[in-house]
Amino acid sequence: MKPSTSRPRPSGLVCAYRKLPRGAGREEQSSILVALFGKLGYMRTLEVSAADARSAVVCGLGAWLPPRIVTNDELATRLDTSDEWIRTRTGIQTRHIVSPGMPTSYLAAEAGARAMESAGVKDVDALVLATTTPDRPCPASAPRVAHRLGLTGRPAFDVSAVCTGFLYALSVAAGLIVSGAAEHILVIGAEAFSTIIDPHDRTSGVLFGDGAGAVVLRAGDHQEPGAIGWVELGSDGSLDDIITVRAGGSEQRSAGAPQSPADSYFSMRGQEVFPHAVRRMAEAATTALAHARWRPDEVDRLVGHQANLRILHALSERMHIPRERLVVHLDRVGNTAAASIPLALAHAQSTGELFPGARVLLAAFGGGATWGATAVTWPDIKAL
Ligand code: UT7
Repeated sequence: MKPSTSRPRPSGLVCAYRKLPRGAGREEQSSILVALFGKLGYMRTLEVSAADARSAVVCGLGAWLPPRIVTNDELATRLDTSDEWIRTRTGIQTRHIVSPGMPTSYLAAEAGARAMESAGVKDVDALVLATTTPDRPCPASAPRVAHRLGLTGRPAFDVSAVCTGFLYALSVAAGLIVSGAAEHILVIGAEAFSTIIDPHDRTSGVLFGDGAGAVVLRAGDHQEPGAIGWVELGSDGSLDDIITVRAGGSEQRSAGAPQSPADSYFSMRGQEVFPHAVRRMAEAATTALAHARWRPDEVDRLVGHQANLRILHALSERMHIPRERLVVHLDRVGNTAAASIPLALAHAQSTGELFPGARVLLAAFGGGATWGATAVTWPDIKAL
């Protein structure tokens, strides 16, 4: 990370230990240290009990959608589908699609620039990009995005957790800030998902869209609005077949040619994914609520991964959070995978659904399978 002084930077552990309050009791000290050591084994954001604990705080929000909008009726001209089927089964009405020659890094840089402007910063100490659709299998796309944003030299890396990617990236970035390794981090979720969709697959073809959303995190206090608390994350690799692109990786390359052209495209066993998505998001969100010490009826906005309106309704029922408190953005943009949560946040901010002090619960489920959730008290920021 970029050192802020010429002195060698202490390790994250030492930094955090030095931040212990002078009169901190043994319980507070051990809470911090246990969390830090636990971090080595589990990719979880620290939960600390010390009153002045350092935290990562959301201070900027940006979004960008490619201009081309594709309606359900337009899809129905080339796929065996209908506006009625798509609306009733998914709630989706339109999605944005990249133009030829517009890779994920382009979308990511547009959203990242807006988030930095929203935060009022011209520089950050690191960039984390969550994406399922990197510009190339190798290298990661984040360095290219950082270069576009004038951040050449800063650490930049991709996180791959499909539709949970943004929450994974948020957790990693928050951990870097809490450890003292960084003061500001740009976290982006970006997808050109349409580029991996089989043009003949009517099911996936109607679900996904392209776009990017981003937040800037800064170092702050865990009691401030915008502070990222516990990020509950999980995975189950036994489900890696239900959402996948079979070809193009070492598994297929070591075995030989792809078995069929469809192997190079995204495939999803939607019916199987549905119950896992509802169950895992609800479980993770329940844990996140417990860490935040909020009751479900205290949640002002539930921002679930925008895959299907029926999934969001099922989630709200399981969580005992009224449907009216759901943020719904999929009707306009479809499922934008790793971009889904930050895009929904930017949308809800622009409509006034998110307001300073709102108690916001985020939850996602994606390929891997992966899932995650966190709770955040909404800060006073402007989305760009
Ligand atoms: O982003 C990661 C997380 N992803 C998700 O959470 C997605 C979870 N799954 C879903 O959202 C839903 O399962 C889908 C939207 C993908 C599919 O909805 P469904 O209600 O589960 O439909 P289905 O797969 O059971 O298909 C029902 C029927 C089938 O026809 P038959 O066999 O009943 O004659 C499909 O062939 O609908 C047919 N169908 C379509 N018909 C018109 C499938 N796709 C389409 C389509 N247009 N686009």
